Amino acid sequence: MTYSNRLFCFHLCNMVALAIIASSHATLSPTFYDKVCPQALPTIKKMVQAAVQKERRMGASLLRLHFHDCFVHGCDASILLDEAPGIRTEKTTAPNNNSVRGYEVIDQIKSKVDQVCRGPVVSCADIVTVAARDSVVALGGPTWKVPLGRRDSTDAYPDETSDLPGPASSLSTLLANFKKQGLDARDLVALSGGHTIGLARCIFARPEQSDCSRGGQTLGPLDSTPTHFDTVYFKSLVKNKGFLPSDQALFNGSSTDSLVKIYSLNPGAFSADFARSMIKMGNIRPLTGTHGQIRVNCGKRN
Ligand code: HEM
Ligand SMILES: *[C@@H]1O[C@H](CO)[C@@H](O)[C@H](O)[C@H]1NC(C)=O
Ligand SMILES: *[C@@H]1O[C@H](CO)[C@@H](O)[C@H](O)[C@H]1NC(C)=O
Repeated sequence: MTYSNRLFCFHLCNMVALAIIASSHATLSPTFYDKVCPQALPTIKKMVQAAVQKERRMGASLLRLHFHDCFVHGCDASILLDEAPGIRTEKTTAPNNNSVRGYEVIDQIKSKVDQVCRGPVVSCADIVTVAARDSVVALGGPTWKVPLGRRDSTDAYPDETSDLPGPASSLSTLLANFKKQGLDARDLVALSGGHTIGLARCIFARPEQSDCSRGGQTLGPLDSTPTHFDTVYFKSLVKNKGFLPSDQALFNGSSTDSLVKIYSLNPGAFSADFARSMIKMGNIRPLTGTHGQIRVNCGKRN
């Protein structure tokens, strides 16, 4: 090898190495699937719309599925892995068992997307993230561009489901819990606004909250308009009608009261902050580049 060849290789090889390092740390991009499968996002949207039309609650369930994915070891679809040799599932842990819903909808979307894309090019983690956005839109909420390019984990992390906040949490506990994920007080209040849709078990309900106090029912709406993405959740907090203790903790004479008040009076401010915080939550510890895999079946590692 001549000196100039070696010099050439030195530079070229460094450039290749840098490119590989850069791609394994690649940031997410909203245009990630534009070339490889332009039909991916429209397909997810159509299937989410159909699922929400069939059962309005499914929109809430898909939003929560994304939250419970991202807070446990990042947005890597680890929540979707079933129990198998070498894998302890997250699905039966305390926060998820008989509570998280929508797994079948994600499986149906995945098979349709793989069909239109002629192969498994879209990760389960990205499908869950886009389905959460499309669910919010289907129930009348804001839209936003979803950064994409997440890959799927090869393991599940049941022990890390303790990172999910509990419904009896105080404000200081909630703030610390979100801080651990890189999320601040504004993210906490905005994202808690996800409780503008969906249902919860009455065993979690505060006594001040009327929808469960008649007795007999097992589930109650998290706000009085559980199929509409609106600001009624925040209006209820201001009236001391929060469903969960962790909801009312956001308006209970402390630092987050003012933000709750602002969102209760200003749908535009809530929409803008919710969209911004959803992007932040969706960016928690993604697997990118050569890390992880694109699962063929969301419930199993390849
Ligand atoms: C701030 C801390 C949070 C706590 C303590 C919390 C807790 C809970 C609990 C206990 C339930 C009811 C589960 C059941 O009864 O089985 C629930 C439901 C729900 N949560 Fe949260 N959550 C929090 C944050 C979030 C976030 C950040 C989102 C999304 C942005 C979210 C979206 C939902 C939705 C949509 C439902 C209703 C699901 C359905 O109807 O299937 N939550 N949450
Ligand atoms: C999950 O719920 C089922 C009932 O559907 C119950 O039989 C099982 O013991 C629960 N699993 C755990 C780990 O608590
Ligand atoms: C509200 O604050 C009071 C006084 O600090 C506290 O005792 C109570 O548990 C709080 N309630 C909620 C729902 O956070």
